[in-house]
Amino acid sequence: MIIIEDRKLETTKELFNKAINQKYAIGAFNINNLELLQSIVEAAEELNSPVILQVSPSAKKYMKNKYLIKLIEATLQSSSIPVVLHLDHGDSFEICKESVDDGFSSVMIDGSKYNFEDNINITKQVVDYAHKKGVTVEAELGTLSGIEDEISVEDKNAFFTDPTKSKEFVQRTGCDSLAVAIGTSHGAFKFKSKPKLDFERLFNIKKMIGQNFPIVLHGASSVTPDLIKNNNDFGGKIENALGVPETIIREAINMGVVKINVDTDLRLAFSGSVRQYLSQNPNEIDPRKYLGAAKEGVKQLVKSKIRLFGSENKS
Ligand code: G3H
Ligand code: 13P
Ligand code: ZN
Repeated sequence: MIIIEDRKLETTKELFNKAINQKYAIGAFNINNLELLQSIVEAAEELNSPVILQVSPSAKKYMKNKYLIKLIEATLQSSSIPVVLHLDHGDSFEICKESVDDGFSSVMIDGSKYNFEDNINITKQVVDYAHKKGVTVEAELGTLSGIEDEISVEDKNAFFTDPTKSKEFVQRTGCDSLAVAIGTSHGAFKFKSKPKLDFERLFNIKKMIGQNFPIVLHGASSVTPDLIKNNNDFGGKIENALGVPETIIREAINMGVVKINVDTDLRLAFSGSVRQYLSQNPNEIDPRKYLGAAKEGVKQLVKSKIRLFGSENKS
């Protein structure tokens, strides 16, 4: 686990306990580069909020481990809020082990492509390794793939998290938090018409695994019209995009979701800000200018998420 001077990363355990007791959620924001990292941390710092910085396997490859770890050390040295460094969608034991060894404080093992027994086995293998080093583990039961709005009961049961299996999954794996499939999907095209999540299923999952067990919502970007407009007004062409409305996110938090994953909205804020800046300043070639605009756009977005999730002044 990364420790530098008198600062260290937090695990999700410490953060989730407090969030569950006080009924707010913590934003887990995907980072790919210096600008995203700095703007997310600055937003959290200014609002006194804990923050989860998450890195997908492909983002890890893009940033390169050695650079990533140094940037996180610098983040700890230059901030005072609680920071978790989390592996997002780890798809093998090896990448989870590598992340634990590199100093991450939390990892996700995404065994959703496996059958129930194999998902349990790989998750338990990661939990056994990570827990020995004090690292928390998020696991996933169910599949988050985009599906039709009018999904049949049979398909729902095939793809979404099965409440009756959730208790056995949590008990046998020993995972610290559970990512559930209740109707969200990754990316900007989550629904064909009306956004809707299966809250009855979430209610039943919580009944099975316990009210205080941490639940994670992936695919939680809201893809708001202003984010789309800021891309499309300046040369973008993003059509028929639809996310999870903020009212539904609030409902999810009220029902006990404690970690909310956001990547797509960051991408929209970043690219919209760059598009706007370059189109309004066609002679500008200095990356610090258009990336500076991106940092500002992302920072404002993250601040609005922190307020929506209720984690302001909870550091
Ligand atoms: O859930 C996936 C995240 O949005 C990361 O996506 O693999 O393109 O980095 P990525
Ligand atoms: P979005 O694509 O909705 O931002 O979800 C991101 C996510 O779940 C990362 O794990
Ligand atoms: Zn995800």
